[in-house]
Amino acid sequence: MPTRVCAEDELELGEAFKVIIDGVPVALVKDSAGNCFALGDTCSHGDISLSEGFVEGDEIECWAHGGKFELATGAPRALPVSDPVPVYPLTIVDGDVYVDVTSRVDVAAYLASA
Ligand code: FES
Repeated sequence: MPTRVCAEDELELGEAFKVIIDGVPVALVKDSAGNCFALGDTCSHGDISLSEGFVEGDEIECWAHGGKFELATGAPRALPVSDPVPVYPLTIVDGDVYVDVTSRVDVAAYLASA
């Protein structure tokens, strides 16, 4: 079930911040084009918060060792990361951001539509 996490205008372009939703750490990200994403906040390479990393284009970079993940799919883009992070469905309704940590974005469907 989606949980309201913030107002959309609280998300800064090109920034990420961490929220805990039902005990799940989530990195909320708004890329420089204004697209919003909700990724698992823990890097798949180590116990590092991705929201403390760097948003660059359609990726987020982990500050610890430079691993990168695609925002839309959670797919690894740069070593040393080789495993994806989860991406949760995010919706914006009347200016409010909702995230459902009980589900996952259908990455195959996303890639098929891209
Ligand atoms: S802990 Fe994230 S790249 Fe190593």
